[in-house]
Amino acid sequence: MTEQPMPLTLALPKGRLLPRVLELFETRGISLSFEDRKLVSYDEGNLFQAFLVKNNDLPTYVNHGIAGLGICGSDVLYESGFRFFKLLTFPFGKTRMCLAGRKGYSPKDYPRHLSVATKFTRFTQDYFHARGIPVQIIRLEGSVELAPVLGLAPLIVDLVETGETLKANNLQVIEKLQEIEVHLIANPSYYKLHYQSINRITELLKEGKE
Ligand code: PRP
Repeated sequence: MTEQPMPLTLALPKGRLLPRVLELFETRGISLSFEDRKLVSYDEGNLFQAFLVKNNDLPTYVNHGIAGLGICGSDVLYESGFRFFKLLTFPFGKTRMCLAGRKGYSPKDYPRHLSVATKFTRFTQDYFHARGIPVQIIRLEGSVELAPVLGLAPLIVDLVETGETLKANNLQVIEKLQEIEVHLIANPSYYKLHYQSINRITELLKEGKE
């Protein structure tokens, strides 16, 4: 009798990425669902034990090896400061990290000392410091677009997907800073222990129509 392999542990992000992840898994014959507000689930084939975690907590779970694998945007990975193996880039969830401000704001209006409101403090700090531009960062947790509208800071660094939130608040992209993509990541030690089954799964997720 062959022994059934242990399911791989996988952290999935709550929020707008989740339906796209589950849909892609479904097309590869992996059926995962979270019912009754449950936060742990197994797929029917027992390939995965999946945990539903808050986006910003996902790198912490993978870094501690609680989840060996995770699906996460490069924005959140960068903010975490942790190092993972990136096994795959998904076709969905591509977005842009942008500097934005009020409509009509010109790059010539850049003050000598930037004041920027953002959720992405590590990225913003590193981005401007690498260019020798002093920056004062005001940390916000969400609705960042309000900052220039209410005068908290003239500029924001935030994700822009459709651009609708900026438009609705009379703001515009001043500069695109970074492409953001969604990756399948692995805890390096976990990968070394389970590389055969992880490689099989990675190939399966790569295959077929996207
Ligand atoms: C994200 C991002 C922008 C918005 C961009 O916010 O921070 O606010 O989406 O999307 P759009 O270009 O398609 O309008 P999210 O919805 O995660 O909420 P938040 O304001 O709580 O961060």
